Amino acid sequence: KPRLRVVLLGCGTVNSGVLAGLEDMPGQVEIAAIVTRRPRNESEGAYAWLTDLTAAFDTGPDLVIDALPDCAAAEKALALAVERGVHVISANKAVIARRPDLEAKARRAGLGFAYSAAVGGGVPVLETVARLKASGETITRVRGVLNGTSNFVLGLLEKGIGFDDAIAAAQAAGFAEEDPSADLDGLDAAAKLALIARAAFDIAPDPYAIPADSLFDLSVGQILGARENGLRYRQLAELSVQAEGVVATVRLQALPEDHALARVENEENAVEIDCASGTRIVLNGKGAGQTPTAGSVLSDVRALLANGGAG
Ligand code: HSE
Repeated sequence: KPRLRVVLLGCGTVNSGVLAGLEDMPGQVEIAAIVTRRPRNESEGAYAWLTDLTAAFDTGPDLVIDALPDCAAAEKALALAVERGVHVISANKAVIARRPDLEAKARRAGLGFAYSAAVGGGVPVLETVARLKASGETITRVRGVLNGTSNFVLGLLEKGIGFDDAIAAAQAAGFAEEDPSADLDGLDAAAKLALIARAAFDIAPDPYAIPADSLFDLSVGQILGARENGLRYRQLAELSVQAEGVVATVRLQALPEDHALARVENEENAVEIDCASGTRIVLNGKGAGQTPTAGSVLSDVRALLANGGAG
């Protein structure tokens, strides 16, 4: 008997990759239903394609895997999952960041509630923060490039490509959010900072309250001028422990081009984590796109299976 009955929420860039991975895990998982916002033709594989959330929960899943865009349906689905005792794996940083109560409620109920893919794509940012804390380190600052789309767009702007074409390329590559302004205005990075703050400091800042610079306020002239002076603009997300508490910001900053956080190319993410002991960990890797993101979701599925389906 399959050990986990799974409902997939969404089947776009991320979950179509997850589905392919789950198909390679026969005997461990069974796809109970796939929920999409637009109706699908039943001839698309042997799955129950549904548009109705309640009908999907009526298939009796053990686990929902959410890769819906940030939308009311995603929030409702995660709330329903926790209410019905269903494990949650999500790539949905916006909803997870806005609703810390869902994670708290799931944990109290002993449910799995994992979101490795929500920060850093394939880069293990939350895992590293948890590991540092577990080893007794006190984290004092986290700083990095957390949005692949902004970094990719900045790279194209540096090459003289216009804003609209650069954004269209990020969408075509599957890096951008459904509404790419969330990437470019810093909200996506702010949601990721909120999740890092939860892991590092047990606080849940509101992503909308984190001050953020918008890429639209930067001119191509500024970007090219910086480049001529050996500088590169980067969207830098930062959490730091100050006397007044933890301060979170998303700022566009021109860094020397040989700086570790300036040498982040295309959709890569890079993160520096500093600890009171002087330890600095630097992570770098694929921050957006199907393969790294689906891979992180699948790692959460395997961890849940290894735990015998318990949170
Ligand atoms: N839109 C996000 C990004 C996807 O560009 O980083 C990965 O979280």
